[in-house]
Amino acid sequence: MNSPTLLIGNWKMNLTPSEASSYAKKLVQAIPRLANTTVWIAPTDLSIPAVIDAITGSPLQVGGQNSHWKTSGAFTGETSPIALRDIGATFTIIGHSERRTLFGETSSLVAERTVQALECGLTPVVCIGESEQERQSGKTEDILAEQLQPVLTHITADLFSKVVLAYEPVWAIGTGKVAAPGEIQDTHTFIRNFCRDEGFSDTEATVVYGGSVNPANAADILSLPAVSGALVGGASIKIEQWLELIRISESLS
Ligand code: PGA
Repeated sequence: MNSPTLLIGNWKMNLTPSEASSYAKKLVQAIPRLANTTVWIAPTDLSIPAVIDAITGSPLQVGGQNSHWKTSGAFTGETSPIALRDIGATFTIIGHSERRTLFGETSSLVAERTVQALECGLTPVVCIGESEQERQSGKTEDILAEQLQPVLTHITADLFSKVVLAYEPVWAIGTGKVAAPGEIQDTHTFIRNFCRDEGFSDTEATVVYGGSVNPANAADILSLPAVSGALVGGASIKIEQWLELIRISESLS
């Protein structure tokens, strides 16, 4: 697990295209060469072209926050993965808990979206995570297994190496309540072992943590051996905090 730390900024439904463009320009200027960190940004669809323009020539990569299980068709309001690829996006977040809880996305749809993203040459960042009630009633591992299984059933070992798994406990997202390092390490180990038991490489799996990651807790989280990086919402929208997260990641080798 010596790969660079992966930091993914999920801007959610924030920043207009002009705000996003000016943020991205400042980011490119402020980031020195990255030695130990890979930085990805997921703006809203409308901001992706402006952000791609701003980061061209830098090591940053841009992706979507969701993409459909088909490449085209009568799916009003959806985002085609082939269109994302066509405009220069390299990854797409799939199955974020806000999609699952607010928009009714099931784990089988998440699996279908994942497969299509891979077929279109995008890296899917597949989000999984339990609610507070599920953790309190000891169901965390069952829930994660239920969410992972449909995805793993539909991909080959070769494709697995192109998938990023994001463990995001729902109760930690946007709440300021971060999971304890021990909980994160244990849960990531469970996810890796589950993948191994399904016939995939546990050591090559990329598993990032998400949920209230900020400059105060990032060093403890990013230095956990089972953690490949972080998926960051709130702290990625504020450029100073995002730059600080990148500096922290760069300082951990
Ligand atoms: P947060 O969001 O960092 O604001 O908790 C994380 C996410 O939703 O991916």
